[in-house]
Amino acid sequence: MSSLYSTVYKKLWGYHEVDLDEEQDLNPPRMLGRHYNSTSGSLWPFLGWVLAVILAVALVANQRFENQSDLSCQRQLSTYSPLMEGFSMDSRVVRVNGSLDWPSPYRGPPSPEVDAAWNRISIIRPLDIQLTRDEFLRLDGDPETAAHNAPEHGGQYFLVPQSTHHFHCLNLLRKSTHFKFDYYDAFDPDFTKNRKMFEVHLDHCVEILRQFIMCHVDVGVVTSHWVEGRKKPWPNFNTQHVCKNYEQVLEWTEKHQLPENTPLMPAKPAGVAEMSSPP
Ligand SMILES: *[C@@H]1O[C@H](CO)[C@@H](O)[C@H](O)[C@H]1NC(C)=O
Repeated sequence: MSSLYSTVYKKLWGYHEVDLDEEQDLNPPRMLGRHYNSTSGSLWPFLGWVLAVILAVALVANQRFENQSDLSCQRQLSTYSPLMEGFSMDSRVVRVNGSLDWPSPYRGPPSPEVDAAWNRISIIRPLDIQLTRDEFLRLDGDPETAAHNAPEHGGQYFLVPQSTHHFHCLNLLRKSTHFKFDYYDAFDPDFTKNRKMFEVHLDHCVEILRQFIMCHVDVGVVTSHWVEGRKKPWPNFNTQHVCKNYEQVLEWTEKHQLPENTPLMPAKPAGVAEMSSPP
């Protein structure tokens, strides 16, 4: 978005640079009026300084404009979030590893190590963020029935990052694959609490990820190659993507969650306003 602006600016910068050089080379002994006549004898050195200051200011402004335009791009691609106010996210081009057997800390037979990798991204304590009622209204229509953190944990609106929910859902799908099911069925509360509820929960997770993928549809294409010993084209999923920096988002989230030992959910206080059914 800033490229046109910066191209124009680079041109200006070049133009001014040339001017400065010419000025030094020529050093015209011109007198520009009586006032300057009597002191420096020339307006040119003075003009050089003015130009240098203007250029310095313009460079800083250009930098700020580029940061601003990153932020405004992000704002156009997201609804309001307190995270948006917190920091400017990096985006970068990433080539993902789409090899069928790419080893990742998030895959493999179920184990405490694999669970630890998933828990890090899918379990976050409530956020420690002070939203005004108006800010809450930008997120949700009804502040009256909104859950709050317990007073001893700050009493703010109870907020959880959206990405945490998506990773929770993907994790539940992973755990539910038939060759991992029995492992988690033995101890995971999501599996053991209520089997009917578990089925609804699992379908909800597929659905929420479907909607998320459709909303953020990737317009990239996948190429394929002929491979020795294989009759069918083999897709190359090692594709490039413009990726937000997830680790940066997680770092922000971790920094803005309530302290350790805060319950993941607040208990319901007596006498609060209630919705008649879940939203
Ligand atoms: C993907 O990972 C595999 C296994 O670690 C590696 O051999 C391969 O070079 C990687 N591909 C890319 C495109 O990084």
